[in-house]
Amino acid sequence: MNWEQFLTPIPISLGVLGSLMMSATQTNDFTINDHKPVGGFQYMRDPTSFRQSLMQIGHESYKAFLVAHGNMNKVRLSTLTVPSYMNEATRILATGNFTVIQSRLHRPLRVVTTAIRDSLNWSLKVAIQFEYLSNLTDEVHLAAVSSKSAKEGTKLSVVEQQSHKKLTSDSVQQHLNQIEKQLKDDLKKSDRAHEDLLQAWLSKPTAFERLGMDIGQFFLNDVLGENYKFIQI
Ligand SMILES: *[C@@H]1O[C@H](CO)[C@@H](O)[C@H](O)[C@H]1NC(C)=O
Ligand SMILES: *[C@@H]1O[C@H](CO)[C@@H](O)[C@H](O)[C@H]1NC(C)=O
Ligand SMILES: *[C@@H]1O[C@H](CO)[C@@H](O)[C@H](O)[C@H]1NC(C)=O
Repeated sequence: MNWEQFLTPIPISLGVLGSLMMSATQTNDFTINDHKPVGGFQYMRDPTSFRQSLMQIGHESYKAFLVAHGNMNKVRLSTLTVPSYMNEATRILATGNFTVIQSRLHRPLRVVTTAIRDSLNWSLKVAIQFEYLSNLTDEVHLAAVSSKSAKEGTKLSVVEQQSHKKLTSDSVQQHLNQIEKQLKDDLKKSDRAHEDLLQAWLSKPTAFERLGMDIGQFFLNDVLGENYKFIQI
């Protein structure tokens, strides 16, 4: 088993992520800060610990998956509502009544504009999260291959033997199942929140206006508040 296979470029599959977390908890630790880059390490929280660095990659990967799922779902739901607001705008224009157009057209258009702006923003956040993960992975990879302790090979081969044994045992499968279950639970929770919101949103398109609520803020604070707290640990 080669550590480098765990540090492949993203997207890291969930299976590899599981093995990674598993290995990280079961290996002897060693430092990888022998060769500090100019300006120091930018992403690793604890360069003195290879194990902590692996855990950090695991944590960031999980976060990236969650953000990707949540945000892409938000984009999907947000754009689902766009056609109904465009219809409303068309209906208003079709009245041909300038007073009506002037007083009402801005509302559906604002919702559509917000949906587009938010979607861009949500996609951007996913991209940044994956870029961050990629940068962190690169840094750990580089530090690990240039680390004296790793190069000596002694510790690494012990780690290899140990983790190989452990990784082929039943506990791996258990661990993977656990991670998968946790992820599924989290995703289900956020799906439900989105569906509920979508229902509320579709049935009362003007409720948000009356409450003077920014829809994006509503998403972030009220619907995703729980999840965001969870993933920002
Ligand atoms: C336009 O609509 C307003 C409000 O509904 C109405 O008072 C007005 O008479 C209408 N104007 C025309 C030209 O139809
Ligand atoms: C994107 O989101 C951030 C924070 O949530 C906000 O400050 C920013 O104005 C948003 N940008 C756009 C283009 O909506
Ligand atoms: C990732 O690294 C690149 C190149 O060093 C840098 O420009 C970019 O800002 C980094 N991105 C993040 C999210 O840290």
